[in-house]
Amino acid sequence: MVEIREATEADHDAVWDIFREVVSAGDSYPFEPDMPREQALRYWTGSGVRTFVAVVDGRVVGTYILKPNQPGLGDHVANAAFMVGSGGRGRGVGRAMGEHALREASQGGFLAMQFNFVVSTNAGAVALWRKLGFAVVGTVPKAFRHREHGLVDVYVMHRFL
Ligand SMILES: CC(C)(COP(=O)(O)OP(=O)(O)OC[C@H]1O[C@@H](n2cnc3c(N)ncnc32)[C@H](O)[C@@H]1OP(=O)(O)O)[C@@H](O)C(=O)NCCC(=O)NCCS
Repeated sequence: MVEIREATEADHDAVWDIFREVVSAGDSYPFEPDMPREQALRYWTGSGVRTFVAVVDGRVVGTYILKPNQPGLGDHVANAAFMVGSGGRGRGVGRAMGEHALREASQGGFLAMQFNFVVSTNAGAVALWRKLGFAVVGTVPKAFRHREHGLVDVYVMHRFL
């Protein structure tokens, strides 16, 4: 069973462990693979961002953030980002967080959700977002320097809520 709740400061160590592992792989997010903890936590838990954690058997195994995709006249579209630690993948945590984010965004009054930077080679993520109703609405050619594959395309994915 996956419990999803808002993160507190007590979750920062666990969030950082997951963030560091995901980012250091260099295959899904454009952050510097050796981004320092303070900078990472400022991005992931800073002001204007709602931060959630997914807990299984009392352990934080995943985290996601929800925020407006743009300020001002673009703030009716939500943006979210998701990370599951490698040990917790393939057990429905990503799907549970995705569904939770869609519910939270709807309840928060957003009209749509947009992902700006889905690495095209990230097959698991692309498949999951499609299953949750997102469509690829744009492809940015060679926008990501993948650690293994070199320059790869990035998708913008979108769905109305
Ligand atoms: C992407 C990510 C969040 C998915 O989390 P997860 O907990 O492993 O995903 P789930 O176990 O909920 O699986 C989600 C679905 O994707 C499917 N899936 C997983 N890998 C797949 C693949 N390579 N091809 C097709 N489908 C795949 C699963 O079968 C599952 O389908 P179902 O819900 O219909 O059974 C996780 O792998 C992760 O954090 N990766 C690193 C960071 C990242 O890529 N974040 C997203 C950036 S856009």
